[in-house]
Amino acid sequence: MIRAFHVTKRYGDVVALRDVNLQIRPGEFVFLTGASGAGKTTLLRMLYRASLPTSGQLIVDGHNLATLPRRQVPAFRRRIGLVFQDARLIEDRSAIENVAFVGRVLGLSRAESRRRAMELLELTGVDHRAQQYPAQLSGGEQQRTGLARALMSAPVLLLADEPTGNLDPDTAIEMLRIFRAINRRGTTVVLATHDPDLIAALGRRTLILEQGRIRSLSRHAVEQE
Ligand SMILES: Nc1ncnc2c1ncn2[C@@H]1O[C@H](COP(=O)(O)OP(=O)(O)O)[C@@H](O)[C@H]1O
Ligand SMILES: [Mg+2]
Repeated sequence: MIRAFHVTKRYGDVVALRDVNLQIRPGEFVFLTGASGAGKTTLLRMLYRASLPTSGQLIVDGHNLATLPRRQVPAFRRRIGLVFQDARLIEDRSAIENVAFVGRVLGLSRAESRRRAMELLELTGVDHRAQQYPAQLSGGEQQRTGLARALMSAPVLLLADEPTGNLDPDTAIEMLRIFRAINRRGTTVVLATHDPDLIAALGRRTLILEQGRIRSLSRHAVEQE
């Protein structure tokens, strides 16, 4: 699903990523960890082609991102679901409307969009809050709604950048279980977190970034490799 060959990313004098090599297979669940500033967000942004490597090659879902024609970028992005630390919901739309509008963008009918949105809210465990507005939802419920929205395009790859960063530990672990359930249904998941407790709770393959370098892999990962 993902291959990086000698990927380096510079911002002026700052080297955000140095010679990163990695492979993530379809169906894997991989944690990306490391201290603040280690390069997690930089790497995730390159995976959905929000930015390009300064040098090196990145292959995602069969596309070499450096040579992917601009007109193919929207179709490429539809195959990827994105979740951030903050759900960024539209304040004057209910939870279900926040999710269903993606279906409309994808060309589904209003009824079909709502039906799918409700299914996904059920999957993420907030269907009982579907009619509420973002301000009426807890932080965890907002994140679950954001996750449902990310799933509307039936992505093959889900990229999550500190999705539990604003949640208390119990809510964070519950949220993690939902990511795991989505992964079990076949979606590849790459989840960036600086929280070692979360990683310990799930015990999945872990890529550790340290000052822009992949420092090491967890034992679990070494066994898989
Ligand atoms: N747009 C940018 N311009 C300049 N420097 C950046 C930019 N984005 C990230 N950086 C730098 O790249 C490094 C990695 O940042 P980031 O990927 O955000 O790390 P993390 O997500 O692990 O906290 C940091 O030194 C950061 O300051
Ligand atoms: Mg970050």
